[in-house]
Amino acid sequence: MQTVTDLPGGGVAIVEKGILSCCGDIFRNFSSNAKVAVITDETVRGLYFDVVRNSFESCGFSVCDYTVKQGENSKNWSEAGKIASFLARNGFTGGDTVVTLGGGVVGDLGAFAASVYHRGIRLCAMPTTILAAIDSSVGGKTAVNLPEGKNLVGTFWQPALVLCDVSVFGTLGATELAEGMGELCKYSLLTGEKFAVNDLKNAENLTGIIKKCVGFKSKIVKRDVFDKNERRILNLGHTYAHAVEKAGAYAVPHGIAVFYGVKKTIDSCYNNGFMSKAEYLRCSEVIADYPEPTVVLPGDDEIRKYILADKKRNGEQITLALLKGFGKPFLKTMPIREAVELLCR
Ligand code: NAD
Ligand code: GLY
Repeated sequence: MQTVTDLPGGGVAIVEKGILSCCGDIFRNFSSNAKVAVITDETVRGLYFDVVRNSFESCGFSVCDYTVKQGENSKNWSEAGKIASFLARNGFTGGDTVVTLGGGVVGDLGAFAASVYHRGIRLCAMPTTILAAIDSSVGGKTAVNLPEGKNLVGTFWQPALVLCDVSVFGTLGATELAEGMGELCKYSLLTGEKFAVNDLKNAENLTGIIKKCVGFKSKIVKRDVFDKNERRILNLGHTYAHAVEKAGAYAVPHGIAVFYGVKKTIDSCYNNGFMSKAEYLRCSEVIADYPEPTVVLPGDDEIRKYILADKKRNGEQITLALLKGFGKPFLKTMPIREAVELLCR
């Protein structure tokens, strides 16, 4: 029996094992228009495109695909323009659909193209990494990178449908699994729920965890779609994480940087008197359940420099997502130099 989670903007998310092979059947309930463009990357195409195409085609949809090279470098302005031209060449109109099949890179890129083509056409997201399933496919943030920085161009465009098949996580590499763990750790500390992360190979367990994260994020985003207030708590650990990513020239993947950012933020909350010792020990115990990724972090001076240049600053001020305890997030606005001291002391 499929259970659905209501998404911001009126869409729904369905998280089930084996759902890719019946995506066409499910999609029929959302659209009778004939055209579907699948945006994917080379790795994911090789693994999962055939099953998606067969399902759509057997339900009467006509399917074309646009495939990018895997990796962050594909999330760019030029590639988004090529996708828009691809949709135009294939006669896509307002009622047709873009399907993003892949991780956060093709998710952000394809959703951006869907949001600007014809001033917005229907979007269906099929996340294939844990990070994309619990975070980037939900909430409607789209993005492309510029040579000047990551995610500097983007829109808000909500998916009509998110279909997450947990069986695809079986082919993820160690780095992608570690990235998913980083984001899961963030959700655990925000929600105050300890997830059984040692058992992620168990599809039922993983399905339940993803549904909880999607439900939690959706609830917050519905109250603050445009990221002006409460939604910013979802950025727990991100100020430090973004600085780590930039200082390391993006050699440290996003989800792994988030793990370190969350850990650093918890230490800072305790050291600066925002969190009691009992709460700190509770949070530390939860973090200790997550395997520590093995990456070389950039030096402190570099990280400080990039926190000072954070794109989310507002003039000389920045709003940080902090924790009073397990499941007790709050926002605090402070001068950017104070934030550097708080996070890097
Ligand atoms: P990704 O999309 O690059 O995927 C990581 C790698 O895993 C790629 O090489 C991909 O080909 C491969 N892959 C994907 N699914 C696979 C599968 N099932 N089996 C085997 N290989 C698979 O990276 P990601 O970590 O999913 O996403 C990172 C991106 O997400 C960043 O660009 C980040 O900025 C963005 N992001 C966006 C939001 C948002 O709210 N929009 C939130 C968090 C992160
Ligand atoms: N990834 C944080 C957000 O969607 O707001």
